[in-house]
Amino acid sequence: MSVRSLLAIAVVGLVLSVSAEAAGDPVHGKTLGYTCLGCHGIESYKSVYPTFSVPRLRGQHPEYIIAALKAYKSGERNHATMHAHASSMSDQDMEDLAAYLGGEVVKATAGAKPAGTAPAAVATCSACHGADGVGIMGMYPTLSGQHADYIEHALTSYRSGARKNGIMGPFAAQLKPEDIKEVAEYFAHQQPALKTVPKKEKLAVAAK
Ligand code: HEC
Ligand code: HEC
Repeated sequence: MSVRSLLAIAVVGLVLSVSAEAAGDPVHGKTLGYTCLGCHGIESYKSVYPTFSVPRLRGQHPEYIIAALKAYKSGERNHATMHAHASSMSDQDMEDLAAYLGGEVVKATAGAKPAGTAPAAVATCSACHGADGVGIMGMYPTLSGQHADYIEHALTSYRSGARKNGIMGPFAAQLKPEDIKEVAEYFAHQQPALKTVPKKEKLAVAAK
């Protein structure tokens, strides 16, 4: 299938899936999210077999975080640890966790030039992930500043079918292993960037 027809299909999907604004409570999310920091709060934390860095969540779109947690809960996205965490969460818990972990969402800087030279394969990705890796909508994960080895792991998993997604499967299938490395390095180096959730932070509670 051509990239153009893949994009056309994806855009139809997008119109059908416009989601409501997430309204989580970050203070409750912080209480629930304490255990998450054992991995997502440590900059150099690696998952083993296969080895890759645990994804950065601070700055990520809350809609995407919620979608990921739902996919782990249902088993649509396969990961034993994350399934164990997500299986007992209510929808509200997920919204609260997303509000806390995502925190201040990374926003594309208007008119900014991406860092470095974009590999040719990136042209296709920008339609959804932005030229600088900031997802143009809540359902499109932001990639800028994500760990390169995590991006590589994600793309390799889509390509092999280990991670199933109707949109990303066909796009990843068009990437060669050497493209995957280049694309991962490119997005990992863009600004503004995702960050590891800080282990200690004070949450500003809105004054009433
Ligand atoms: C033992 C380490 C560990 C703990 C604890 C943990 N996670 Fe994860 N998390 C991971 C790993 C590893 C992945 C990547 C899994 C994969 O490849 O799908 C992940 C993926 C995620 C993702 C998907 C991110 C993306 O970019 O797709 C979200 C969201 C997430 N975790 C949220 C949480 C929340 C919320 C908690 C606490 C309730 C939590 N995690 C606890 C290790 C952990
Ligand atoms: C039509 C929109 C679209 C296009 C084009 C697209 N993506 Fe995606 N991408 C998505 C969606 C939606 C997801 C979330 C899928 C899921 O839940 O697994 C995603 C997920 C990802 C992830 C996983 C992020 C994470 O945190 O786990 C990576 C990495 C990624 N895309 C890279 C790319 C690259 C590289 C390209 C270009 C070759 C590309 N994408 C093209 C929509 C798109």
